[in-house]
Amino acid sequence: FLAKGTTSRVVLPPDLFAPERRNSAGLDLAAEDVLACLGGEPPEDVAPEGDGEAIRNPADRGDVVGRIVFATCADADAAVARAVAAFPGWSGTPARERAARLFRAADLLEERREGLMALLVREAGKSWPNAVSELREAVDFLRYYGAAVRDGFDNATHRPLGPVACISPWNFPLAIFLGQVSAALAAGNTVLAKPAEETPLVARAAVAVLHEAGVPKEAVQLVPGAGDVGARLVASAAVRGVVFTGSTEVARAIRRRLAERLNPDGAPVPLIAETGGQNALVVDSSALAEQVVADVLSSAFDSAGQRCSALRILCVQEECADRLLTMLRGAMDELRTGDPARLDTDVGPVISEGARAGILSHVAAMRARGCPVHQAPLAEETAAGVFVPPTLIEIESIAALDREVFGPVLHVLRTPRAGLRAAIEAVNATGYALTFGVHTRIDAAIEDAAALSAAGNVYVNRNLVGAVVGVQPFGGHGLSGTGPKAGGPLYLRRLLADAPPPGAA
Ligand code: NAD
Ligand code: ALA
Repeated sequence: FLAKGTTSRVVLPPDLFAPERRNSAGLDLAAEDVLACLGGEPPEDVAPEGDGEAIRNPADRGDVVGRIVFATCADADAAVARAVAAFPGWSGTPARERAARLFRAADLLEERREGLMALLVREAGKSWPNAVSELREAVDFLRYYGAAVRDGFDNATHRPLGPVACISPWNFPLAIFLGQVSAALAAGNTVLAKPAEETPLVARAAVAVLHEAGVPKEAVQLVPGAGDVGARLVASAAVRGVVFTGSTEVARAIRRRLAERLNPDGAPVPLIAETGGQNALVVDSSALAEQVVADVLSSAFDSAGQRCSALRILCVQEECADRLLTMLRGAMDELRTGDPARLDTDVGPVISEGARAGILSHVAAMRARGCPVHQAPLAEETAAGVFVPPTLIEIESIAALDREVFGPVLHVLRTPRAGLRAAIEAVNATGYALTFGVHTRIDAAIEDAAALSAAGNVYVNRNLVGAVVGVQPFGGHGLSGTGPKAGGPLYLRRLLADAPPPGAA
């Protein structure tokens, strides 16, 4: 997929900043507002007894956002059994009716937007603009997959698989969670929804919305827990397909496990895996420096760099590197990294102490190797949470980067004039192929980028993040994923089996 030009802009709801919602921190909706967004009956947990796990705000570890009881492996087995029992009913529901319920859920998300966004800010550390765009993306997924089956589902040639496990990460706890789940439901499958252990409360609110919209409780069940619960779902012979978004390592473990069995029709168990990236942007001296700086800031540091699509390696032509890097370091120093509940914050926290330790150890290792490092300042209130300053590291070779660093860390490589092809080859050689970008006013460079980059999404003269459902289908290849793009026309096909030929049993 090749996207040129400017990105779409986020528009905040007009009543979001009403004076009565402000507090001394700027804007922090109260817990009651968050709970109000759930509406209706509280969702049924798989195991409702007990106090449950405390889910803490990454911007303020003393703030317990809520509690949830994690499922055991036995609970996961019981949920799978219910999903098997519910399959004939949900798969037999006409596609138009399934779509109608997803549309209703999209409407409910819009109605509850303020509470859901507040939950995204407090549980996942999202900035307000990020929370708005995430809510929008979730709504888009529900409507996109709903419309796809309403308008195009042909049960003479395709049929639903059965129970499908949807296993999602914490960095898009609403949009990716609902993107996976709505696709599987739209196709007529029943769903075991396993959110990331860091962000189960947003997921619980999302499942409550689906139930309220008329999706039966057994057709979509929340199975909160850690990796062992996800692994248990993957191992279950009754699970007929897996949708996974997360790290490359876990995707490989899931693929190995699924390779041990076949579905009853003799086909391999379908897997959609969307994983990490080692994403690069190549800038030549014809590019507009101010535009490059703005796009680099949003690509590398938006969401504290915790996007699979985020920019990790900036390749700058030697002739313009000094000027561009001076501008970039200055712009980084103007970013406000702090409490995401504040309207003036640009960069929020990372998700956990473990994530912060991993990122900082990478920075320390690069510094020890002699790489120049620049770090932007942190705001005062960051002592209460888990924050990493936006960081720029100059490197001498892409080969020095052996893993995805999932945080606000940008590597910069100076490249020779006419070095575009060599840079693309070095990036392709990492094995990751998710996003790639080029900033240039030379047509031949754009053509080379489009033709030679292995990335699933190639961006020209814009940032690398924020693919729009249905407009910029999103997904990668190689170590970055298995192919069918989220928010694109081929995604649902992977969640359907071929119908038996006429006359076959
Ligand atoms: P992760 O792989 O640690 O966890 C993802 C999910 O898998 C969680 O729900 C986790 O509990 C579960 N899990 C862990 N071990 C499992 C196992 N053995 N079997 C089954 N499930 C298991 O990833 P994360 O830290 O939550 O997310 C960050 C990663 O996700 C980054 O690598 C990022 O690039 C990637 N990501 C990719 C995309 C994309 O579209 N390509 C989008 C967002 C995030
Ligand atoms: N789809 C998300 C993006 O494009 C991950 O940033």
